[in-house]
Amino acid sequence: MKKILVIGGAGYIGSHVARAFLDRGYDVTVFDNLQSGVRENLFDDAKFIHGDIMRPEQLRSAMSSGFDGCVHLAALKAAGQSMLKPGEYAQSNISGTINILNQLLEAGISTVIFSSSAAVYGSPRYLPIDEEHPKDPENFYGFTKLEIERLLDWYDRLKGLRYAAIRYFNAAGYDVRGRVRGVELNPENLLPIVMETAAGIRPKLSIFGTDYPTRDGSCIRDYVHVTDLAEAHVTAFEHILRNGGSLTVNLGSQNGVSVLEMVDRARALTGKPVPADIAPRRPGDPAELVASSEKAKELLGWEPKYSDVDTLITSTWRMYENRSASR
Ligand code: UFG
Repeated sequence: MKKILVIGGAGYIGSHVARAFLDRGYDVTVFDNLQSGVRENLFDDAKFIHGDIMRPEQLRSAMSSGFDGCVHLAALKAAGQSMLKPGEYAQSNISGTINILNQLLEAGISTVIFSSSAAVYGSPRYLPIDEEHPKDPENFYGFTKLEIERLLDWYDRLKGLRYAAIRYFNAAGYDVRGRVRGVELNPENLLPIVMETAAGIRPKLSIFGTDYPTRDGSCIRDYVHVTDLAEAHVTAFEHILRNGGSLTVNLGSQNGVSVLEMVDRARALTGKPVPADIAPRRPGDPAELVASSEKAKELLGWEPKYSDVDTLITSTWRMYENRSASR
């Protein structure tokens, strides 16, 4: 049985990644400091190490039992915050990753799957965005992800570390079987905010701009179900084991959905009013972001299965509906 270390595996995406590896029969160990990850996201069939990527000795001890590979998802991820607190983002995302990579090499673990982001591209020069699109991050968060991608490339050339850098577009949804139990705390993304509003946890939602040059004036994004993302991590890992080469791929649904479309569909599917105000544009939001996922399809045979709008909304609503009922 192959052994995999999932760093950041108690978080929103990390827990789905841990689940995907468990479902494919891997021996999974989650390493997480539980700063944004939650205990509810730990599965009985995985091991757990409470540790911090800023503590190399904790990483060393965690890796000492031997692993076939590592998935690294431990990072700060709020793009807006990253512009106010670059020091914290540099520490966690860059220094923390350097700690991980150095410890992996010391432990003789030569395969890592890294969670990168569409934020490495910045404002789109053309659509859909493929992997060759210029990399010009507009926020510090995207810069940290791009720096790590470059570091990975050097570690590959110099040390033979094989990696997959996976650039997520807008991750959304929850395990459709309801096995991931933790709801993200203080969400900053559209769909969980819509759900908190539908559940009555927030009084209303703000729609950041309806004066964009899009079909209904609101921003268009490429939402991809977190289970589809998670499965790509397993596939990418197996691809590296089979073929040996590092790779960088986008993951998106290639389907643009506007903010207003998402809110309207959420109203219809939840049966809740979801009060919404039209607010000014949020700084730094491009009008439209849509991925080309052709490379992931060709290289990994990856196809999104759960990324249609209805599945995104219903799988998320199931989490929030229970939450409002349990309050
Ligand atoms: N939005 C609202 N109201 C809200 C929250 C969001 O109108 O209360 C809008 C935003 O303006 C944007 C869209 O909904 O147009 C999606 O916003 P999110 O904050 O959910 O996501 P972003 O597209 O800003 O960013 C997300 C991740 C980033 C990642 C990026 C890649 O949060 O980390 O996708 O595409 F880099």
